[in-house]
Amino acid sequence: MCGIVGAIGHPDAASVLYQALQRLEYRGYDSAGICIADGGALDARRAVGKLSALGEVLAKDPLPGMTGIGHTRWATHGKATLNNAHPIMAGAEVAVVHNGIIENHKILKAGLIERGHVFTSDTDTEVLTHLFAEAVASQPDLMSATKHVLGQIEGAYAFAVVAKAFPDQIAIARNASPLAVGLGEGANYIGSDAMAMGSMTRRIIFLKDGDYGVISRDDIELRSEDGTPAQREVVMASASPGLVSKDGYQHFMEKEIHEQPEAIAHTLAEITAADGGFNFELGDAAEMKGMVMLAAGTSHNAAMIGKYWMESLADLPVVTEIASEFRYRNPSVRHLDMAMGISQSGESLDTLMALRYAAEQGLKTLGLVNVAESTIARETDLQLLTRAGPEIGVASTKSFTAQLAVLLGLAAELGQKRGVLSADDAAKIHADLASLPRLMGAAMNSFDDIRPFISQLARAQSCLFLGRGMLYPLALEGALKLKELSYIHAEGYASGEMKHGPIALIEEGLPVIALLSNDEHLPKAVSNLMEAKARGAAVMVICTESTKEAVEDIDTIITVPDCDPLIAPILLSIPAQILSYLTAVHKGTDVDQPRNHAKSVTLE
Ligand code: AGP
Repeated sequence: MCGIVGAIGHPDAASVLYQALQRLEYRGYDSAGICIADGGALDARRAVGKLSALGEVLAKDPLPGMTGIGHTRWATHGKATLNNAHPIMAGAEVAVVHNGIIENHKILKAGLIERGHVFTSDTDTEVLTHLFAEAVASQPDLMSATKHVLGQIEGAYAFAVVAKAFPDQIAIARNASPLAVGLGEGANYIGSDAMAMGSMTRRIIFLKDGDYGVISRDDIELRSEDGTPAQREVVMASASPGLVSKDGYQHFMEKEIHEQPEAIAHTLAEITAADGGFNFELGDAAEMKGMVMLAAGTSHNAAMIGKYWMESLADLPVVTEIASEFRYRNPSVRHLDMAMGISQSGESLDTLMALRYAAEQGLKTLGLVNVAESTIARETDLQLLTRAGPEIGVASTKSFTAQLAVLLGLAAELGQKRGVLSADDAAKIHADLASLPRLMGAAMNSFDDIRPFISQLARAQSCLFLGRGMLYPLALEGALKLKELSYIHAEGYASGEMKHGPIALIEEGLPVIALLSNDEHLPKAVSNLMEAKARGAAVMVICTESTKEAVEDIDTIITVPDCDPLIAPILLSIPAQILSYLTAVHKGTDVDQPRNHAKSVTLE
């Protein structure tokens, strides 16, 4: 995750920007930079590596001035080099700091080069810089220039821009990546989160998706996506500088649900090569005969979805095992040569011990973790990292969808290496993954769509989640979320399995939540849910937009944007998480620390 900061009207802008970057260093530290735009002249200092390297550069070569922007980078498109360090500049006309993915950067870059622009980095961000260089030359003011640029780009982004043509102003915009404005005395600030500005102000405005605007030292003008004035609430941020902040959300879980577009964007960047393909370093692992996936809880549900992708895209035999069961069965592993441990914390002892057992049996081990310096990361032969950032809420949300993004990308890469998936098909999967931040941002509408149904669900004693194909493990995950957060007993079932017994549970008013997407299972999955409705169940469907046409006279249908069925399990996770979150809030349970639970179960 990258961190963005800005300051306008402060007598020593570079100093407060550096302090703010220090508070954002947890978001990434491949490179950092600051640009001061004093009286219009733009001047920048950048450095590769930890933020302290930038501090040394600034000490030797200070940047005086009252307006500026800064960035701490976690490499997305383009390696961690000085050329790719933000702020990215177009001559001395424009400087940009950006967090997210500009999905259509390739086509925009081609057009800009045709119009004579010279690129100096291999970042997607640089297209923003050149688009702004064009816009500030053609538009009457910085707000119009910003709107003009936003009309050309697609993707998840939060950015801040200074331009020589419009001194004493900073342009900002956000879509799916967080951005906040801090209101100071005679100065105003920008930050990826409230904590960044904690030493300057606690009066914070959190921008909403689609918001953009221009700030000066004594004015903040925000617009909504449709260009109308956006009146955003000023909140008092917590006075806990230095800690991970809730950033104005009621719970860490709510914040982390909203962070998923950004978490996916940065996880995708972790597995994306400079040429736009996948960059998994697997050595001869591509030749493996078979893989066992070892995990617990939500991570095991991710493993079960990963199995579908590994088998269908890479023709790789995969078995998934509940870690705490695996080693006590003396399992036969002669048909396997790789064990993958999937763990957000990288510390779950069940998973760690299962991996140690697999290693003793001679299997190569791979850890898919969200904590780079965790025990599982240190003990496995290979590591894959999700870049979801710190996950404080005990219920896994952003780490789950980030795990899925890596598993799908890995399946596509293995499919290519094993000669069963074409380069074009792999590229389509990569593009579908890159569209997720934007689609997930749109799926946050589920908060409003689901809220009216929560009081009824909160009264339930029991609940069924149904899914078919890849959505069966998602049904398990939806049930786990509802159980662990709201303490309502919930079961996830393969839709086709319901008629082999669980159908006896169906009675008038029993909540049945069916997950659907436009895949080959849809007709049968609809039949299964109608069997439940015919017996009095209160059915809620969570589905992709166009799928709802296949579902007649169902009272409650929650939709997410249409997407390729291959990524539907990732996108449909959002409403499933929101449903459990809102139910728990309604019931007044301890959402971030549910009873009896722990974020990382470090005992067997
Ligand atoms: C999921 O919401 C729970 N927090 C829990 O099931 C968790 O997924 C499980 O304990 C595994 O944790 P890990 O991913 O850190 O190994």
